[in-house]
Amino acid sequence: MPSPYGNKRTVAKLVSELEDAEKLNSRGRAYRRVCNLSHSDKKVVSWKFNEWDYGKNNITLPCKARGLFISDDVESPVIVARGYDKFFNMGEVSFTKWEWIEENCRGPYDVTIKANGCIIFISGLEDGTMVVCSKHSTGPREDVDRNHAEAGEKHLLKQLAEMNVDPKDFARMLYTYNITAVAEYCDDSFEEHILEYPLEKAGLYLHGVNVNEAEFETWDMKDVSELALKYGFKRIQSFDMNTIEDLKKLFDDCTASGSFKGQEIEGFVIRCHLKSNGKPFFFKYKFEEPYLMYRQWREVTKDYISNNSRVFKFKKHKFITNKYLDFVIPILDSSPKIREDYMKGFRIIELRTMFLESYGMSGLEILNHEKVAELELRNAIDYDKVDEHTKFLIFPISVIGCGKTTTSQTLTNLFPETWGHIQNDDITGKDKSQLIKKSLELLAKQEMKCVIVDRNNHQFRERKQLFEWLDELKEDYLAYDTNIKVIGISFAPYDKLSKIRDITMQRVIKRGNNHQSIKLDELGEKKVIGIMSGFLKRYQPLNIDKSPDNMFDLMIELDFNEIDSSLTNVKQILNEIHRAYPILMPEIPTDDKIDEAFRKSLEYKPTVRKIVGKGNGNQQKTPKLIRPVYISVNAREHDEIINLVRQGVANNKDLSQKFEGLLANDRLQKDFHITLGHVMSSREKEGKKLWKLYLTRYHDQITEYNNNHKENNSGNNQNTSVNTTDKLKFKLSKLCWDDKIIAIVVELSGNETGCLIDVNGDIVNGLKCLNKVPHITVCKIDSNVKAVYSNVLCEKVQSGEAQDENVKVLKLSDAKEFVGDVCLNF
Ligand code: GTP
Ligand code: MG
Repeated sequence: MPSPYGNKRTVAKLVSELEDAEKLNSRGRAYRRVCNLSHSDKKVVSWKFNEWDYGKNNITLPCKARGLFISDDVESPVIVARGYDKFFNMGEVSFTKWEWIEENCRGPYDVTIKANGCIIFISGLEDGTMVVCSKHSTGPREDVDRNHAEAGEKHLLKQLAEMNVDPKDFARMLYTYNITAVAEYCDDSFEEHILEYPLEKAGLYLHGVNVNEAEFETWDMKDVSELALKYGFKRIQSFDMNTIEDLKKLFDDCTASGSFKGQEIEGFVIRCHLKSNGKPFFFKYKFEEPYLMYRQWREVTKDYISNNSRVFKFKKHKFITNKYLDFVIPILDSSPKIREDYMKGFRIIELRTMFLESYGMSGLEILNHEKVAELELRNAIDYDKVDEHTKFLIFPISVIGCGKTTTSQTLTNLFPETWGHIQNDDITGKDKSQLIKKSLELLAKQEMKCVIVDRNNHQFRERKQLFEWLDELKEDYLAYDTNIKVIGISFAPYDKLSKIRDITMQRVIKRGNNHQSIKLDELGEKKVIGIMSGFLKRYQPLNIDKSPDNMFDLMIELDFNEIDSSLTNVKQILNEIHRAYPILMPEIPTDDKIDEAFRKSLEYKPTVRKIVGKGNGNQQKTPKLIRPVYISVNAREHDEIINLVRQGVANNKDLSQKFEGLLANDRLQKDFHITLGHVMSSREKEGKKLWKLYLTRYHDQITEYNNNHKENNSGNNQNTSVNTTDKLKFKLSKLCWDDKIIAIVVELSGNETGCLIDVNGDIVNGLKCLNKVPHITVCKIDSNVKAVYSNVLCEKVQSGEAQDENVKVLKLSDAKEFVGDVCLNF
């Protein structure tokens, strides 16, 4: 073993640098936590920095140790325990790229297998008191339900007893050598991580011995191993590689097979030295998979347990994750105990292993065969099969006024529990695919068997679009193995078009204002007839031999009669469905019932008002200037904001789990922005003036957008965002979380005159945020909620009215100043 250190231990200079760094309010800020020791009345201070500050080239931190505990001694503070200098994954930062390592490091490369548990630092005081720390804390804690340091210590005492070592001697030895023993505590009975550590493998894996000095100094693996042997630690596997080529080959081989010598491992830690000064240099090589997949399984399981509903939308590994859920859901449903354990972090590995065993493949095999397996299994699903699990969609092919809505209403009146009806005319938003999204959402309900997707679809293009949307969106709403059959209903036979024209025009005129968008009083008869003629002119009737019309599973071709056409239609539809799909319609309702349902449907009145095109029929001579809908500041650092939120909720287990769940399911807003002003806010008196100021400032960009827009002739170019050269700086303040939305209240930099900064770095006079409480919408938990609801929530929180227990408010770190770009959103 190396000779004892022990002189010049005091690190007063480091402490004063740390204390200075504590006063910073952005980059390089240090955070302290004072910890009471368990077996002494002394205290130690745990120091850390923001995670991302360690890897930045342009920040010099007083000490890069991840895990740094200094005695609470004003005169001559000493380092009590010290972690490794923060090290990074291959390629994660500029100095872990191959070229950099090749140029700056020298071998041998000491490769160790990464243990997968929680890190524990062990050291001793002069009087023989043992100090055991987790990454950033030691001693008793009230605020956590699992104390890693205490659990690690318990295990250590057991281990020392088995070796007949007095803990005091061990502590004194550590003190004498002035070292910290760094171990990984792996024990599934305490806490499960990703790899399995059953009883026989559980223990403290000693992977390093650091000298308690500000400058990073660490023992060679040979000495570490010797110490482990002497004190009963489990040893980690390690071996030398002489050249960087050997190292590369090792990683390539392991990545290809996904394992090391047949064992699943999380990755390697590589220790070498810098050519320049001979100092130790560490980096790691972590396998992404199958751990990402396992993590996703864990999150979807937690999500299922918390919400009792199954998610279908996944980032990756969609197919196998669905298979996994098929397997675990019945188990979870049958045992509240398993659900409870799972939420406490146990049995995660057990369920995963059970699934893998039943599936007959290891995680790695699944990944290697993922595509093939998916195809094979998909082929194994008989999509032609029609049984009690099959669901149905109906797509009409029609022109205006043929009785689609009347027919659909009659059918849903007959089967109110199992048939649904979604009308395109009820959808007023910009997103046209809402038609199919809403239909699938309705169809996904357990009792729902058939949904009529009410739209004219008078052209091939529209029919094709429905099939494409269905293909793309189906698995977001329904299980992958749910068969959907699509039934087409052709309402307007081509040879009857002139009759159809006459009758539908009479009917629609008679219908008057009783429609979502075609309102006779507003449009006038001429305009209504004009619209209807347009549809008839463009009409592409059914062509069953050609795509997309050959994609229907069943086509019902209706005739068109003058009297009670919808009644006749319904009867024909019922008959044909009964014949083709008795499972959907085992019996045809009696004529009386059908009559009654039809009469009722004639009284149907729409509930939605929809404005299509220009409403009043006055043709616009000159195109109207398109103005932004809202002006925002788009944050540049999305991930860092997520990280701060993650930190903010870290102490709240429930929110923390929910947040990870939302993250795993890709539910957070894609872009984080602060709305400075919305065209709606300009309707209010105060806002009007400010909004005008904004439009004046960005006049040029708005004109340019309009010019491009004309040239592109792109009709309705929605949702485009145009960057300006102005910026804004802001800090996070609080997280506001209720059952509908998650938002962050932010603090904008600036002063009385304004908050925007121009290219020269000067404040732009007069431009302020139009919202009372500037904020970022992080996630719409309730997908129907409008982002503007964040306003309501944040104002409630800021005014102190949010006393209700459904609103959670958490302070966020304001250490970092973020920058965002001012954008115009058209
Ligand atoms: P759009 O939504 O405008 O494309 O029309 P649509 O195809 O949904 O037709 P809708 O069901 O609204 O029918 C048009 C008008 O004709 C309505 O006022 C209906 O009440 C009426 N109507 C529909 N079918 C019948 C029928 O069989 N007999 C009678 N008397 N009126 C009908
Ligand atoms: Mg209709």
